[in-house]
Amino acid sequence: MTVRFHNPVDTRFGCGSLQQLVALTEHQQVALVTFPEARGLGVVDRIQDLLGERLVYLVEDVQPNPDVAWLRTTYERFWRVAADCQTVIAVGGGSAIDTAKALIVGTESGDFAELLALLATGKPFVPARSKALIAAPTTAGTGSEVTPWATIWDAGSQKKYSLHLDSTWPAVAIIDPELMLTVPAEVTVSTGLDALSHALEAIWNVNANPISDTFAIAAIEDILECLPKLRLDLGSRELRSRMALAALKAGMAFSNTKTALAHSISYEMTLRHGLPHGIACSFTLPLVLGLAWGRDAACDQTLQRVFGNNLAVAQARLREFLHSLGVKTEFADYGVPPEEAEAIIGYALQGARGKNFIGAWAA
Ligand SMILES: NC(=O)c1ccc[n+]([C@@H]2O[C@H](COP(=O)([O-])OP(=O)(O)OC[C@H]3O[C@@H](n4cnc5c(N)ncnc54)[C@H](O)[C@@H]3O)[C@@H](O)[C@H]2O)c1
Ligand SMILES: [Fe+2]
Repeated sequence: MTVRFHNPVDTRFGCGSLQQLVALTEHQQVALVTFPEARGLGVVDRIQDLLGERLVYLVEDVQPNPDVAWLRTTYERFWRVAADCQTVIAVGGGSAIDTAKALIVGTESGDFAELLALLATGKPFVPARSKALIAAPTTAGTGSEVTPWATIWDAGSQKKYSLHLDSTWPAVAIIDPELMLTVPAEVTVSTGLDALSHALEAIWNVNANPISDTFAIAAIEDILECLPKLRLDLGSRELRSRMALAALKAGMAFSNTKTALAHSISYEMTLRHGLPHGIACSFTLPLVLGLAWGRDAACDQTLQRVFGNNLAVAQARLREFLHSLGVKTEFADYGVPPEEAEAIIGYALQGARGKNFIGAWAA
């Protein structure tokens, strides 16, 4: 069997690595996309000090789950005012990085409607204009810094778009765990569980291969061990670094497989029930583990390397892990009755991500 693993992102990791922005942006004009708390936390000033006059444009009002209603004006203003900058730097969680991925894809007209129409086709396209992206995550979760995917939400029409082009791979990822020291406990847990979900979804995936599995297994082991400790010791540089590395490994794994059923279910739970992404894509992990088990010998072997060979014990371990972090694991806990849960799972299996699930044909 021949396998291929492809990830073109130039990845820098370590405390203090944000400093590398200086060397990476020499002689360029850059725009910064960041989260609203960044200024109060001193992050905007720090980047302004590093970049000086190179920093020509700033978007600092990115809200969780970038929505078309807000993105429209931000996108059109960016292409009107900052069309000359060469590089966009995203410093934030998945919401800031995904916003930046949408901004760098320039339409001919500069109109956001043109981009949405292209996204609605679900097919790849070559943008009329684009910019380089440097992604510096401030949460240990989405792995968006090493993937080409971005999720664009449309809460008004209860839809989500998936942006994925050759040009949406970040050119550089800077993973500096010091940026994560200020993430509150609740967000630390939900983003850490997003990473756990990425790793598991990379394993129970029709696109899995031994290389993505290697990243995924290492990520799962790290997260199971490290996240409960980090939740009780949020200021620990060592634990922040370990979780940052675990989220990076999970990102590497699913950068080549995409996600699967748990994420497909999550989109409905976020749109209909308002769950944060990390909770929405992790509370079903014990359930999805049960649906994956026994469908494919290679997948079983990988899952059993992590969880042993007893499914009931494996599911109980995952459930207890989630409960210990304060996360409930049943649809009913989120006010979803059994008929609606069944409909959500059925719909999720039909979605693009659901079709990546190893047990899709039998579930
Ligand atoms: N592109 C991908 O591959 C991918 C994968 C998974 C999720 N996502 C998307 O990412 C988004 C979720 O991203 P997220 O989970 O990182 O959360 P987020 O970016 O929405 O951030 C969560 C909250 O934490 C705050 N925050 C972020 N960093 C902080 C810091 N260092 N200190 C204090 N507060 C901070 C934010 O302002 C926000 O209020 C969703 O829209 C989801 O769809 C994308
Ligand atoms: Fe995710």
